[in-house]
Amino acid sequence: MVHAKIIGTGSYLPKKVLTNFDLEKMVDTSDEWIRERTGIRERRIADKQEAASDLALMASKEALKAAGIKPKELDLILVATVSPDMILPSTACILQHKLGIKNIPAFDINAACSGFIYALSVADSFIRSGVYSRVLVVGAEVLSRITDWKDRTTCVLLGDGAGAVVLEKTKGKRGILSVNIYADGSMWDLLHVPAGGSRMPATKETVQKRLHFIKMRGNETFKVAVRTLERLVVDTLKENGVKPDELSLLIPHQANHRIIAATAKRLGLGLDRVMLTLDRHGNTSAASIPLALDEAVRTGRIKEGDYILLEAFGGGLTWGSALIKW
Ligand code: UT7
Repeated sequence: MVHAKIIGTGSYLPKKVLTNFDLEKMVDTSDEWIRERTGIRERRIADKQEAASDLALMASKEALKAAGIKPKELDLILVATVSPDMILPSTACILQHKLGIKNIPAFDINAACSGFIYALSVADSFIRSGVYSRVLVVGAEVLSRITDWKDRTTCVLLGDGAGAVVLEKTKGKRGILSVNIYADGSMWDLLHVPAGGSRMPATKETVQKRLHFIKMRGNETFKVAVRTLERLVVDTLKENGVKPDELSLLIPHQANHRIIAATAKRLGLGLDRVMLTLDRHGNTSAASIPLALDEAVRTGRIKEGDYILLEAFGGGLTWGSALIKW
């Protein structure tokens, strides 16, 4: 049976590091609180000239190089982001132009922190159905531009970065075994940016009231995330007939160490079988999984034939998982 296989990964992190100690000088917080409540020590912040497509381009070039294919060999470009270069056009179209290619479809996917899994699902469906053979999937975020640097409940959590994968059609046994995506819009207001869309266009007042920044009801989101992810990972493995002890690596969305630890515990996995980048990257929304995946590949933590489980939860609310036989 035809399915999709990841043939190359890449990532990019901006140079500037913002530590918890730097944040102590900006808002009423402490390194101790941030580490204990989230597991984050530092995060990267994009340069003034860098937008989502610039980060996406760097990650994509690396993924294409690792895959050994040229941009012109791609059939589709998908970019998962909630911090696009601009509202119109899509960051995927800008990325296509930067890659020096034309005519293939390119579009963005907005599923917040689950964006990469959503994009993977779209790519997987196009490949399984025989429509496309090679797809570039990118998660790219410059969250620092939509972060309220005066709001200690959100600004200590977020970071910038991008990760990319190239997927190719395969008839072999390895590749994406299943991808599941879900949403519950009834809780849309747990995590949102109130202004800047058609509901509340930009005015002097929206700017003064800081309504163009991410608002999150953290504690409520946390509880739903733990409950949902614990169920999701168990169901995903069961559905595919894979036992937790057969799993080589869990690559979770990096939002909070306590959420990740609870999910791993539910599967009976030690943290040595969990990919953690949160301490160095913070929460980079749609970029967090492809960033962690690329690090896992490049540091030799994934071997041929390994079962890898990806999972994410975020604004929407949205959530999803992907099981891969590498
Ligand atoms: O990316 C996908 C979606 N997002 C998530 O999955 C994130 C989910 N949420 C979380 O990770 C956690 O809820 C947070 C890390 C955001 C917060 O941790 P918490 O344990 O849920 O704390 P809390 O919001 O209940 O706040 C506890 C206390 C409060 O003080 P009082 O009311 O107890 O006096 C906050 O005001 O901590 C205070 N607080 C802070 N203190 C120091 C909140 N932010 C900070 C801060 N520094 N940065």
